[in-house]
Amino acid sequence: MRLNTLLSFLITVCFLAQTALAQNKTIKPDAVWKDSAGKRINAHGGCVISHGGIYYWYGEEKEKGLSEKEHADAGVHCYASSDLVNWHDQGLVLKLIKGETLSDLAFDSNHDRPKVVYNEATRKFVMFFKLYLRGKGHGVAYVGVATSDSPVGPFVYKHKFLGGGSPNGTGDFAIYKDDDGKLYHLSVRKPDKAFVIGKMRDDYLMPEGKYQICEGVTRHTEAPAIFKKDGIYHMLASGSTGWAPNPARHFTARNIYGPWKFRGNPCQGTNPHNNLGPDKTFGGQSNFVLKVDEQKDAYIAIFDINKPKHPYESAYIWLPIKFKGKDISILWQDAWSLDVFRNQ
Ligand code: DGJ
Repeated sequence: MRLNTLLSFLITVCFLAQTALAQNKTIKPDAVWKDSAGKRINAHGGCVISHGGIYYWYGEEKEKGLSEKEHADAGVHCYASSDLVNWHDQGLVLKLIKGETLSDLAFDSNHDRPKVVYNEATRKFVMFFKLYLRGKGHGVAYVGVATSDSPVGPFVYKHKFLGGGSPNGTGDFAIYKDDDGKLYHLSVRKPDKAFVIGKMRDDYLMPEGKYQICEGVTRHTEAPAIFKKDGIYHMLASGSTGWAPNPARHFTARNIYGPWKFRGNPCQGTNPHNNLGPDKTFGGQSNFVLKVDEQKDAYIAIFDINKPKHPYESAYIWLPIKFKGKDISILWQDAWSLDVFRNQ
């Protein structure tokens, strides 16, 4: 048995045992979320993948006491769970280096919105993040790439690339792995803010060929999350207002390259913690949409409530997605459980 297979197996056994004892079954959007050791979960702008029966949540670790202006990113933190509710700390799987000035992993750089996918052919977990180099401002954004043999790291930084065929690169992005294993980088191009798509190489490490504009996706679309249901591609996204919330956007397409059709803002209801409703996406901005394993039509919309002055305190909103044909709705709920998918 390969070492990483053995490791995944041991993690699975360990979690199944721990989860059997765990009490918590409720997801409470915009509450303080703690891990199984009672520590605040620190994984922002991230994603959740499923591998070997375990979910892995990756997100930006924010250094306590630093604001976004002071470059709070400390690396990528990973948590693991078998039930999407009780999360076990797996530590920093990619670390920014304090004291470094020139490295792409220098502490004062920005590593935003990490996304991880598994490449079956190379047996590598591949991580992507939006990378602003230390001291170089926000005019040029790279895509940083790191790989690991195990879902719980360590991830080894490989290289960066400029997406979109632009010398300024691309900003917020989604990485979408299609049913045939092909991987796509969908992103807002800098500086013109057109929304573009590029196919990645079979090893997932670099784009191949030219990027194309996704016709129908509004310019200045940020925070994209792509998922597919019944052969239709869906994109949940936001507008472009820095760290401040704005109305969510939903698009659908039959072909991932487009044309995409705008379907409005799917959010409904009000977050009682901040009194913000659909016009501000409950105070949040989308990061990812997760398909729940072995449950038909079970998708969770994942948002962060950004707190740029105190990013360590940024909160999480996870809500189930309801479908009506190609339209979706995301209703605010103070508390919910995965049972909603069984009863739909
Ligand atoms: C909007 C992005 O969606 C956020 O993740 C973050 O990068 C901010 N911009 C920074 O202004």
